[in-house]
Amino acid sequence: MDSFSVPVSKLVKEPYSHILGYPRATEKELKKRVLELKKLGINSVTFGGPTILNNIPVLGKGYVGVVVLSRHGKGHAALKIRRIDSSRDEMKSEAKLLKIANTVNVGPRVINSSKNFIVMEYVEGEKIIDWVKELKGKGSARKLRGIVRKILEDCYNLDNIHLDHGELSYIHKHVIVGKSPCIIDFESASLNRRTSNVTSATQSIFIGSGLSNIVKKIIKIPNTKKMIESLKKYKHDQSRKNFDNVLKILGLDKV
Ligand SMILES: Nc1ncnc2c1ncn2[C@@H]1O[C@H](COP(=O)(O)OP(=O)(O)O)[C@@H](O)[C@H]1O
Ligand SMILES: [Mg+2]
Repeated sequence: MDSFSVPVSKLVKEPYSHILGYPRATEKELKKRVLELKKLGINSVTFGGPTILNNIPVLGKGYVGVVVLSRHGKGHAALKIRRIDSSRDEMKSEAKLLKIANTVNVGPRVINSSKNFIVMEYVEGEKIIDWVKELKGKGSARKLRGIVRKILEDCYNLDNIHLDHGELSYIHKHVIVGKSPCIIDFESASLNRRTSNVTSATQSIFIGSGLSNIVKKIIKIPNTKKMIESLKKYKHDQSRKNFDNVLKILGLDKV
């Protein structure tokens, strides 16, 4: 489906109202949201992308939000819209955690946020699982190693600032790969938990998941026992030295 733009003021009308207030909202709530968008500097929304909601294409949907492309000033931005039926009652907390990730250059850059929206950098690319499935030919192993190394470095940087993403065991849903990989969706992140970014991401990529089965076909995966040993050591003491050892065991040290 081709993409098309709709000015913010028209979003109160059907069928777009079902996106602005997904799955459905009162007229009062919709009007409030339009004002909120205008305050955020959003001029229009561009409907397009791989997920179809009520016949309208969007960038994606989760349990907390619906994400669409939008026009912000002269540029594009991704707009995460809080679902009416979401268990979270505001988006500011997620934006705050994403901003903290941004301090170590992880995650889409936060541009602005409000009660019901996060305006952030639009990450062009595909979910890591689709990206890996399409990898073929010469250089695939090298490319994959480079992407995985970058993801794990980002995870290490998050561990280092005590920000736990919380959902990296499901990494296939939380990394978009374009020119480089980007970890998305900090809605379950926390500063008050033991961090397990490196360990969860490594397990998800190399040990038990649909993703690891595809990865296995492209790069040689080390012995599981050895991987787990190095991860245990890192879990106990999240030092650069122990992280470097994990990378070495994974064959990612010279990437
Ligand atoms: N910054 C972004 N750029 C492009 N697409 C995005 C961006 N953020 C999220 N998406 C897409 O929207 C989907 C839902 O966003 P997500 O943050 O995971 O929502 P939820 O918190 O509801 O799970 C993602 O899986 C992804 O496909
Ligand atoms: Mg999600």
